[in-house]
Amino acid sequence: MQTIIVTGGAGYIGSHTIIELLTNTAFNVVSIDNFSNSTTAAYDRIKKITNKNFETLNFDLCNEAELNKQLSGIKSIAGIIHFAAYKSVPESMNDPLAYYHNNLTSLNNLLKFALKNNITNFIFSSSCSVYGNADKLPVTEQTELKKAESPYGHTKQMGEDIIRFVCKAEPSFNVVLLRYFNPVGAHISGQIGEFPLNRPNNLVPIITQTAVGKNSLTVFGNKFDTRDGSCIRDYIHVSDIADAHVKALYYLIDKKNKSNVPVFNLGTGNGVSVLEAIHSFEKVSGKKLDYTIGPPREGDVIAVYADNTLARTELNWQPKYGLDDMMASAWKWQQTLEAGN
Ligand code: WQD
Repeated sequence: MQTIIVTGGAGYIGSHTIIELLTNTAFNVVSIDNFSNSTTAAYDRIKKITNKNFETLNFDLCNEAELNKQLSGIKSIAGIIHFAAYKSVPESMNDPLAYYHNNLTSLNNLLKFALKNNITNFIFSSSCSVYGNADKLPVTEQTELKKAESPYGHTKQMGEDIIRFVCKAEPSFNVVLLRYFNPVGAHISGQIGEFPLNRPNNLVPIITQTAVGKNSLTVFGNKFDTRDGSCIRDYIHVSDIADAHVKALYYLIDKKNKSNVPVFNLGTGNGVSVLEAIHSFEKVSGKKLDYTIGPPREGDVIAVYADNTLARTELNWQPKYGLDDMMASAWKWQQTLEAGN
């Protein structure tokens, strides 16, 4: 049996992708996580949902010696899916060097390992934040990348550039760059979802925590040049993102890629404002959300949403969930957490 290595497999998108791999493929899975923003509870939940087992390794990818030691014994690696990275825009504004060190050192070490061991299929978690404040929306994969608005977005731009030069030097090495828009929601079972270790920075977990009285919601600005003054994002269900990773893996394994560093936007193509997201949650949950309007958050892009034509046509991928589904699944997961399950 061939093996897929998933870094950050105990994390939000990583855990949902492992569920898709175990459910829909015959691959063995090895997850690597240093639990900087996750716990082993995610692994227990994956095993309960899929009734499948998989190997887990706990070490820091920034430690090159440890990486080579821990991975040297793994045979028949068909591909690597690299999720592990810090991902908070505001946190990166406060601690840029932690982001540049962690996100780039881990990537460099992993790329070196892949090349040294002739692993030719690699998927990189990129992000819509590479676009910055684009001149034209929706953004396509050819849209000019503006200056990154945060160190987080900058590490994703730099990660893509590193990969492009590596792929130029190594034509037999194939890397799919997946630019996620805003992954939200939770697995349809309600048994796993976003589980931030500390106070979350991103919108949807703050919404669901506010709905159960565990947080308070501030809308960061309502005077932007958008239809209701609040920022626009392309929210996409985490399970749709996970599905795209399996399709991207087979895209490489079946050698359908036309270049050795293809890029795909993973968004629904729908721009949704912060206030519209709040109203969708209120509609599906029946809960009225108290929120205040605060100043804009430093590092925020005003509006970004995807043209996802390329991912739909090249990867044969189609997002299944709409905004209400995303909010309903996030709410179901929050209620699971509240029930102590
Ligand atoms: C969304 C909108 C905030 C919190 C994401 C993540 C990650 C990345 C894409 C993949 C913004 C507003 C938020 C709050 C608010 N994708 N907001 N009050 O900033 O788009 O960052 O980039 O890696 O998903 O890094 O996501 O959820 O933090 O913010 O008004 O309490 O919600 O201003 O407009 P963001 P977010």
